[in-house]
Amino acid sequence: MISTGIVTVSYIAATILFILALGGLSNQETARRGNWCGIIGMTIALLATVFGVVTQNYVELILALLVGGSAGLLLAKRVQMTEMPELVAILHSLVGLAAVFVGFASFMDPNSHFEGVEKTIHDIEVYLGILIGAVTFSGSVIAFGKLSGKIGGSPLILPARHWLNLGLLIASIWFGYQFVLQSAAGGGLNPLIIMTVIALLFGIHMVMAIGGADMPVVVSMLNSYSGWAASATGFMLSNDLLIVTGALVGSSGAILSYIMCRAMNRKFLAVIAGGFGTGGGSSAKGGEDQGEVAPIGAKETAELLANAKEVMIIPGYGMAVAQAQHVVNEITQELRGKGVNVRFGIHPVAGRMPGHMNVLLAEAKVPYDIVFEMDEINDDFPDVDVSVVIGANDIVNPSALTDPDSPIAGMPVLECWKGKTSIVMKRSMATGYAGVQNPLFFEDNTRMLFGDAKEMLDQVFKSL
Ligand code: TAP
Repeated sequence: MISTGIVTVSYIAATILFILALGGLSNQETARRGNWCGIIGMTIALLATVFGVVTQNYVELILALLVGGSAGLLLAKRVQMTEMPELVAILHSLVGLAAVFVGFASFMDPNSHFEGVEKTIHDIEVYLGILIGAVTFSGSVIAFGKLSGKIGGSPLILPARHWLNLGLLIASIWFGYQFVLQSAAGGGLNPLIIMTVIALLFGIHMVMAIGGADMPVVVSMLNSYSGWAASATGFMLSNDLLIVTGALVGSSGAILSYIMCRAMNRKFLAVIAGGFGTGGGSSAKGGEDQGEVAPIGAKETAELLANAKEVMIIPGYGMAVAQAQHVVNEITQELRGKGVNVRFGIHPVAGRMPGHMNVLLAEAKVPYDIVFEMDEINDDFPDVDVSVVIGANDIVNPSALTDPDSPIAGMPVLECWKGKTSIVMKRSMATGYAGVQNPLFFEDNTRMLFGDAKEMLDQVFKSL
């Protein structure tokens, strides 16, 4: 056992390291350092808790650590970059589930000795913790299903769904009142269980009502919820570090949701209320009657690139699927060697998770100073000779700006059609995540390079 003083100091050190981790992760150059801060902070936090806070049941604790640790290690080793968003979603669900379990355990704890006001406060903590935890749990499970394609992307729009949500909210408040009253008299389990069921249903309904195109906001929102659930768990267990860490995750998730909403030009409340991204609307205008597309080969692509002065590479989800980032880097180096100015334009919701493309490009060692955010380069397209769209679709869809009925209407996109030539790499005429056809493919200055992005880029590289 280590003393309480050392535990407190360790917790403060861990908190500082977590803040440094968040700061570091906000920038690619410092992301590795940020990650290390997080790892060291978490190690300190775990050691201080195991040796300073836990006083018994060491066998169970070590068994649980072994099982959980090995499962985590195995998952982290096996998961593909394309499956990261699903993994993140399912991990959020575990935080929610933990909050629910801790809530019930803390309520039923026979050694609990709260009295009077203290008991009321603890009851409210338990109630809120389970509420947030259950919403996070069921919402994340549905998000996992949607992101992995096990559940369809189109939103489930129940009749009078806003009233339904309001009803569930009022019921939760009423059962909360009942719970605190009954708990003071020694009962309270029934309202707690009923609320848990309501919260689980609410989580399912909330995420089911959100359309495919708005999933980025859902992922960051559930990230935020999982933080608040952890924070609530911290209150129940009177663990300061958990409260602070949860609040850090909760608030950074909330900021990320805000950034995502801004990137997609959505109002947060409107996304949560659901119904966006219906997958209907302009998708009915399908690709068939939009005209002919003009294909191009790898050799011709290489020629266009070699003769260009300004090249803009726009990566999307397909680059992640094809794992084409390394050959993209090789082509970039080759072109830069020939004096071509190559830049990357990154859409905030490209791929399937925030920062997805940046992570891949960093992995392939693409220099950071040629990777730009959408806002930084969107006005430069008129000067671009060739834009190479690698497995991206929704993020370069002009109908987002022109078709108010589109599920992605209003979302700012990378306006590559304003450049001289756009080369779009994908395997077929299939739609992207939002399920809408893309008029860019039918533009006069667009060429389609059909095939797996990695295979085609390998050929382009050889030709270069
Ligand atoms: P998408 O619109 O999903 O388009 C990806 C395209 O890549 C598809 O049209 C697909 O066409 C092509 N593709 C797939 N595998 C390929 C391969 N091996 N080789 C070449 N092409 C391949 O992706 P995006 O443009 O990156 O847009 C992101 C979308 O995901 C947005 O709608 C966004 O809202 C949503 N979303 C984003 C996030 C975050 S946080 N970034 C989270 C959830 C959802 P083919 O099948 O014809 O090849």
